[in-house]
This record gives sequence, C-alpha cells and structure tokens, in this order.
Amino acid sequence: MPSVSPLLHTAVRNTRRVRGRVKISSARVDGLAPTAVVTAIKQAAFGRPNAEERAWIKRIELMRALLLTSPAPLEIIDFGAGTAHQFDTGAALTKNTVTKTLGAMTTSSKPPRWAYLLFRLVRELRPQSVLEMGACVGISASYEAAALELNGAGRLLTLEGADVLADRSAQTLGELNLGHRAEVRLGQFADTIEPASAELSPLGFAFIDGHHIESATFA
Ligand SMILES: C[S@@+](CC[C@H](N)C(=O)[O-])C[C@H]1O[C@@H](n2cnc3c(N)ncnc32)[C@H](O)[C@@H]1O
Repeated sequence: MPSVSPLLHTAVRNTRRVRGRVKISSARVDGLAPTAVVTAIKQAAFGRPNAEERAWIKRIELMRALLLTSPAPLEIIDFGAGTAHQFDTGAALTKNTVTKTLGAMTTSSKPPRWAYLLFRLVRELRPQSVLEMGACVGISASYEAAALELNGAGRLLTLEGADVLADRSAQTLGELNLGHRAEVRLGQFADTIEPASAELSPLGFAFIDGHHIESATFA
C-alpha cells in the first residue's frame, strides 16, 4: 500500500496554489487508506453530511456555542497550543498556572470546518482505535467520537495535561452521550503517550493537537 505522506504533500502543495480546491478534487491515488483520505478531503470540501451526521454536528456545535459563552473561571496549567516560543520538549516543558474562562478556553478548539474534516477522516478510514493529543474542552474529541459512533465501532483515547480541562472534556463527551466511545487520560503527553498507544495498539488514527513543535510531534 503506498504511504499517505506523498498524497498529503501533494494536497498541501496544491492547496498553496491558487485554487487548491480544484487540484484536490482531481487528486487520485491507489490503495485503501490514501483513497479514503482523498475521499474525506473531497467530501469535507465539497460534500454534504447525511441527516444522521448533520444531527451529530448540530449537537456538538450547540455544545460549543454553550461553552463559548461560559464565564466560568478555570484555573489551569497552561500548556497552551504549542507555539515554539512557549514550549520546549519533555522536562523543559513550561508550566504556568493561569485563570481563564471556560469560554476563552473553548476558542482553542478546532473550528467547525477543520473539526468536520477530522470527522470525515474517521468516517472514511473507519479506525478501530483513535488517539488524540490535546483534549481541551472536548470538541474535536466529540467529532471523532461521533464519527466512531456512526461507524458503529471504535474507541478514542484523548490525552490532556490540565486537570480541569481533562474533567471538562470528559463532561463534554458524557453530556453528548459519547462516553462509551471516548475516554480522557490526564497527564503530560510524555507520561501518557506510551500507555495509551499500547492500549490502542494497533493504532488506526491519531490527531496530534497539543504540542505542535516538530521535534515533539515526531518524538
Ligand atoms: C489546541 S488545544 C486542543 C484542542 C482540541 N483538540 C480541540 O480541537 O477541541 C491543546 C490542548 O493540549 C494540551 N496540552 C498541550 N501540551 C500538552 C502536554 N505536553 N501534555 C498534556 N497536554 C498538553 C493543552 O492543555 C490544551 O488543552
């Protein structure tokens, strides 16, 4: 089976060109996983979710809207979104305790368009196991878990270092009745990644959304 990365490089290169949408719509590859990725990208760009999918998206977006308006204060260890000036790897990871509202934290969630691409990828690839690094308030995890639910199989573990965010994301998943598809694991990635990967082996899909520095991502 050909690797996915040449396809992704082509997609990124084409997206950088003026009309990436047109280029992606004409992309062709052989093999099951790359074909599923292309289908997911095309559907996310041009397709329309079916009625069941729309119902899940609506529920999750209502949850997002509710969380966005929340003034509830959260005292969190701020791991941030992983910008290079804030972070180093492993033990050198900077930790600041800050107070932010739940609404402000929710703005770190993937916006609907990108969350929908994640959803489509999980729908098309039909993984049995999904790993997410960076749960925050649980929005992208909810999209992935809803896709698993619609697939009728599969399980997600999402990793989160800030305890109040781990609690909040578990609550989000629970309130959306997705708790049987997804669990949140509290702890720094350095401590949780190995046990989570072992538990999910063989890993079908991963979303790395916590510590975006290249060296940490590939470590
Ligand atoms: C961008 S947010 C995740 C957003 C979420 N995936 C979504 O779209 O709904 C990144 C999250 O990763 C967590 N995080 C960052 N670095 C971490 C680390 N080294 N260990 C554990 N959690 C970390 C942060 O606390 C934050 O909640």
